[in-house]
Amino acid sequence: MDSIFSDRIADVPRSFIREILKVSLDPTIISFAGGLPNREFFPVAELKTATAKVFDTMGRDVLQYSMSEGFTGLREMIARRYHDRQNLDIPVENILITNGSQQGLDLMGKTFINEGDDIVIEEPAYLGAIQAFSLFKPRFNPVKLTEEGLDIRQFKSVMSARKPKLIYSVPNFQNPSGISFSERTRREMAGIIEGTSTLLIEDDPYGDLRYSGTDKPSFMAILPKNTILFGSFSKTISPGLRIGWIVAPHDIMEKLIVAKQAADLHTTHFTQCILWQYMRDNDIDAHIRKIKECYGRQMQAMLNSIEKYFPQGVSHTTPEGGMFLWVTLPEGTSSRDLLDRALKDKVIFVPGDPFYVNRQNTNTLRLNFSCTDEPTIDTGIRNLGKAMKQLLKK
Ligand SMILES: Cc1ncc(COP(=O)(O)O)c(C=O)c1O
Repeated sequence: MDSIFSDRIADVPRSFIREILKVSLDPTIISFAGGLPNREFFPVAELKTATAKVFDTMGRDVLQYSMSEGFTGLREMIARRYHDRQNLDIPVENILITNGSQQGLDLMGKTFINEGDDIVIEEPAYLGAIQAFSLFKPRFNPVKLTEEGLDIRQFKSVMSARKPKLIYSVPNFQNPSGISFSERTRREMAGIIEGTSTLLIEDDPYGDLRYSGTDKPSFMAILPKNTILFGSFSKTISPGLRIGWIVAPHDIMEKLIVAKQAADLHTTHFTQCILWQYMRDNDIDAHIRKIKECYGRQMQAMLNSIEKYFPQGVSHTTPEGGMFLWVTLPEGTSSRDLLDRALKDKVIFVPGDPFYVNRQNTNTLRLNFSCTDEPTIDTGIRNLGKAMKQLLKK
């Protein structure tokens, strides 16, 4: 039976997170496992109004085939936001609308990766990127994350030994670790990459969700010739709309458009028009401020409860934004064993394993804080702390 499947798909694991989300449907379970934005913030009424308006003003054309590059009005808005928020001048022609930034990852694979090509990823890395790239059978070179971003010594040695084609990085509030790259790390990395033919994919779906600290310069600002920048409306407006984008220079964009056409012709024009109308009629920065206020409080609640309930020897990251934090258990313990215990206490999380390409039975885990209110966070972290104490006693 196996033989009917391509070699490409054979070894790519199913998303563990999708599996664990099934367990989290049980309402008695407290889940820190999901990676979902909080549904309370989906602007339902505003999107409903925008949808009616789009039909009234654009009529049948919104249901027609459209340009592969994406709806120009929406691309212009994205360019304007880069200008206003980050002082980045991005020509509209350099923006390609994608079906979420997840499609951007697939298009990167199709456009750049031959079997065996060296690519650098973070360790731990975004699981969806591992999955998307795995289909193209690259050689993964994981580089450890420190609290400051990529471990520069290891990065430098991988760069000189392997001359990778691509580097995949989430420098702001990384999924899964919550870590943000310091300005120094960014500039050191840029210095190492500059003048090489290596491309850096800067995946930034969480950049708008900062709760403390200050924005750092993007790679697109400090290393424009080698950077391909991804963005997404999934974490700020709605993931179900499936709208993200890629910013790339002209020569790369030409190839990306071919890959995009082959994949799906274009991202749903109707949805792009609705989003554009919504952003024209509403203050999305005010909307984002509301989300930040809530997630920031929930993150702080999680950090406070961790201080109260986690046993000694367990460490964690202290993010400045995003939706996750990362916990490290003492050496030699397994977060999968912890999950078995935690399930009995009705609390779940994602064990670290799927975020690594070549490690199993790790002592790390990811906690999500965007979807759980503060009292529930306290109960869940208390139960998790109890499960940890039992595990460590063994
Ligand atoms: C780092 C990272 N990149 C990309 C994605 C995919 O997002 P989108 O909904 O835009 O496809 C996610 C979603 O969790 C993510 O965490």
